[in-house]
Parts: sequence; C-alpha cells; structure tokens
Amino acid sequence: MIFLNFAQIIIFMKIDLIAGTRPNFVKIASIVNAFAILRNNIEYRLIHTGQHYTDALSGSFFKDLNLPDPHINLNAGSGSQAEQTAAIMISYEKILKETKPDLCLVVGDVNSSMACAITAKKMQIKVAHVEAGLRSGDWNMPEEVNRVLIDSISDYLFVTTEEAKEQLFKEGNKSERVFFVGNTMIDTLLRFKSKFRKPQIWDQLNLQKNKYLILTLHRPANVDEISKLHESLTEILKHSREIPVIFPIHPRTNKTLEALDLHFENLYPISPLGYLEFNYLVQYAKAVLTDSGGITEETTVLGIPCLTLRDNTERSETILLGTNELIGTDPNNIAPALDKLFKGNWKKGSIPDKWDGKSGERIVKLLQAL
Ligand code: UD1
Repeated sequence: MIFLNFAQIIIFMKIDLIAGTRPNFVKIASIVNAFAILRNNIEYRLIHTGQHYTDALSGSFFKDLNLPDPHINLNAGSGSQAEQTAAIMISYEKILKETKPDLCLVVGDVNSSMACAITAKKMQIKVAHVEAGLRSGDWNMPEEVNRVLIDSISDYLFVTTEEAKEQLFKEGNKSERVFFVGNTMIDTLLRFKSKFRKPQIWDQLNLQKNKYLILTLHRPANVDEISKLHESLTEILKHSREIPVIFPIHPRTNKTLEALDLHFENLYPISPLGYLEFNYLVQYAKAVLTDSGGITEETTVLGIPCLTLRDNTERSETILLGTNELIGTDPNNIAPALDKLFKGNWKKGSIPDKWDGKSGERIVKLLQAL
C-alpha cells in the first residue's frame, strides 16, 4: 500500500486521513496542506470512503481544493444509516488487515468518520478526532451520536473552541488528550478566499452585492416532510423583500422538492455549487439561511449574517461571538428574523480565537511531537 512521504527523511509515523463527505474534504484539505508545508516524519494515505460520490459533492472539491487523488476509495455510497456505516467498516477493515497505520485521523461528525474510527480502534490503532467536543444535545441527529461515539474512543482530541475543550473535560477526558488547535474549515476558507470564483448565476441574474439571500437545507427535520418544507419556503419568500433567494439544492432535499410544485418568482433553485463558487456568493450575500453547521462558521469569519433553521447547534461560538442566530425549525420564526435583518439590526460579530488559518499546522506539529 502506498504512503505519501513529502519529506525524504526517516518515517516515524504512518497516518490514515479519512474523508467521505463534502464538509470532510474542506477540513482534510487544511491538514494535507499542512503536511506539504511542514517538513515532518509522518507519511499519510488519504482514504475516501465514497459516502459522497458525485462530482458536485466530491470530485469538484478535490479539484478546487488542490487535494491529491485519494490513495484508496472504499466506494461505500448511499444507504440507510446502518447500511452506509457497515459498508464503510467492512471495506476499511479489509484495508487495515493489509496495512496498519499508526494512527487513524477522522474529521467532523459524519458516518464515514464514526465508521472508520470504530474500525481502527478495534484493530488497536490509535484514533485522532479533529473537531472533537462539539455537542448539540440533540439525539435525533445521527451526527450527535457520531460525535459522542468518536470522542469516547479517540486517543487525541483536537478542538475548535475553548467551549469544546471544557465539554471534553466535563465528560472526564484528561488534559493530555485534548488540544485546542482552532478550526481547519476556516484554514481552507482563508487559504482559498482570493480564489473564490463567480458562478454563472451571478451574471445570469445580474446579482448585486448585498441584494440577494442564499438558502441551504438538508437536515431531515427541515426537508423530509413535504408540507414543512413548503411552509418554510413560503415564509422565506414572503418576507425576503423580493430580492433573489439562491437555493443550491442538496440531493436529499431534491427528493422532497420533486414532489412540490414550486411557484415563487424570486426563488432560484440550482444544483449544488462547487466550494469556490458557493463561497463567492456567500461573501457578497445579504444573509445566509441554512441548517448546515459548517456554513455558520464560514459566515462568522466572512462577517455575513446567518439565520440557522435549527432548534439547537453544536457550534455555540458562532452565536455567542459570530454572526449566527438560531431561528429554529418553526416556520413562524422566519418573518421576525428577516424583519430584523432588513431593518439593519443584525449583529456584527467577531472571530473566535485561533480561527486564524493555522489550525492544520498546529495539528501536524502536535502529531509530530506525539
Ligand atoms: C451527510 C452528513 C451530514 C453532512 C452532509 C453534508 C451523516 C450522518 N450526515 O448528510 O452531517 O452535513 O453529509 O452534505 O454522515 N447523495 C447523492 N450524491 C452524493 C452523495 C449523496 O446523490 O454524492 C444522496 C444519497 O444517495 C442520499 C442523500 O444524498 O440519498 C444523502 O446522502 P448522505 O451522505 O447519506 O447524507 P447527507 O444528508 O448528505
């Protein structure tokens, strides 16, 4: 099996970097970049689980973020929670039986991260979790189950915020395992900010800075029920002062939308955008309405108002310090929030500590020291 060695020096440690979904690619890009910058005695192999497999959700991210082709693709694909998790575990176990790394590094809270962390741990391989300690308290989200599972078996816990660090201490973790490194997703945002690319829709709709909204929805609580999705969209469109609402549609949401006969003049449903195009739109938007976690962090750093259509968040810094507010999943909450936005009363926000573009380098230096 191939392990990539950037520095032609003695290798002390071999690491598997696991990535399977759109947000994973953004986080892992920071760590891959840090390996390239820092001369070190670590080899890695990049393992794509195949949870996201289309060009829109996977291939375009590898191209845009200068990620090398994965050394291994587990091709797990879609399925129920159990099917997807099982497919990843079975394939990854086979790989580990052939070649064992010293460490398996997973990022975020998706099924791919949880499945690989458990598989590695059961084969006596150490596990590192990047973005540890985040808790929404919402056990209806598969991601919350994944977060708690991964953290409970990880040997090294890399956190994005002081609050996540405190959470891990509250859960009984010793300080030797917990490292406050900052946010790898923000590393990638800052690194590629100057390369953000104007998407076609900009000229097609003659978009103007600060005069459109962006909407993204993919959580089951918002998109699996047709009537609920319809009601939320109606409220958003009714109270958005007729400026365009650009709606890049996640495949999960598309399944529900196909059953809806949408007729809103200022709603523009489009295919999922690539990373550089999406963030080009975000940086000039009036605001973003979303149920994503990562986007609340990116809008905080870009200083763009963010209205989160969820009842809870695992990323409280984006609310305490950033530009994010929890609007909830009740469509009745949308009108007052948009009124506040259009009256110019949205908070300005500030950037959390260590969200400075250096988190990947901190992680790689720590791995080296370990
Ligand atoms: C997953 C993550 C979620 C993350 C999101 C980002 C879990 C539990 N959830 O949710 O935390 O915010 O990714 O997008 O891991 N599909 C495609 N093309 C693809 C990939 C998926 O059409 O390339 C379809 C699948 O067939 C499935 C749906 O999209 O029907 C959902 O995909 P899945 O990866 O299961 O979960 P997400 O909702 O994307």
